[in-house]
Amino acid sequence: MKLLIDDANFEKIKRLYEFYPIDGVTTNPSILAKSGRNPYEVLTQIRDFIGKDADLHVQVISRKAEDMVVEGRKIAERLGKNTLIKIPTVEEGLKAMKALSAEGYRVTATAIYTPQQAFLAGKAGADYAAPYVNRIDNLGGDGVQTTMRIHDIYENNGMKTQLLAASFKNTQQVLELAEYGIGAATVGPDVIEGLMKNVTVDSAVEAFIADFEKLVGTGKTMLDC
Ligand code: E4P
Repeated sequence: MKLLIDDANFEKIKRLYEFYPIDGVTTNPSILAKSGRNPYEVLTQIRDFIGKDADLHVQVISRKAEDMVVEGRKIAERLGKNTLIKIPTVEEGLKAMKALSAEGYRVTATAIYTPQQAFLAGKAGADYAAPYVNRIDNLGGDGVQTTMRIHDIYENNGMKTQLLAASFKNTQQVLELAEYGIGAATVGPDVIEGLMKNVTVDSAVEAFIADFEKLVGTGKTMLDC
């Protein structure tokens, strides 16, 4: 399962790339708004940092299919043809997905709350489909189960569309989907760091160091003992 950062804060992205095995970055209009910066300025900085081959997902804003297509082409022109154009999975969006994927652009169907939407997005040629796990949970549904059903629909129909599960609020949601072998998850910085946070592990590592220092002296390692 690919692991992407769902954020546009450049300092956070840099830090996570330094320590964690990260495969790309996703943004949406609300995430860009939080950055408070010009969208193309921050996105270009992210693209330059992650490299031209890494996955970067950027959403269109227009409501009409024809405008989404023009906007999608512009996103790819500014940020590289490899950039995934995120299109909301509504009727106009399906029309835009068909057009952009036919032109060879990479498309991510976003704002997916139901397997029905995901099925249609796959048929429309989307490379990725992004179900909103936590938002589905908040509506009284089961975001993890919905994502697994979408995975099965794609597998059982031989569709090329991959999952990009999104909207996570805890590490358990991420782990259950990793166990199921879905294609990718995009996760906010706090939840990514939460995958590693464990005081028991930290204290075990500290105990190893303390025992070693008792043996050979404070600050010593296998380099100079
Ligand atoms: C990503 O594609 C989605 O836009 C995002 O994960 C939504 O997350 P949220 O529910 O935390 O806003």
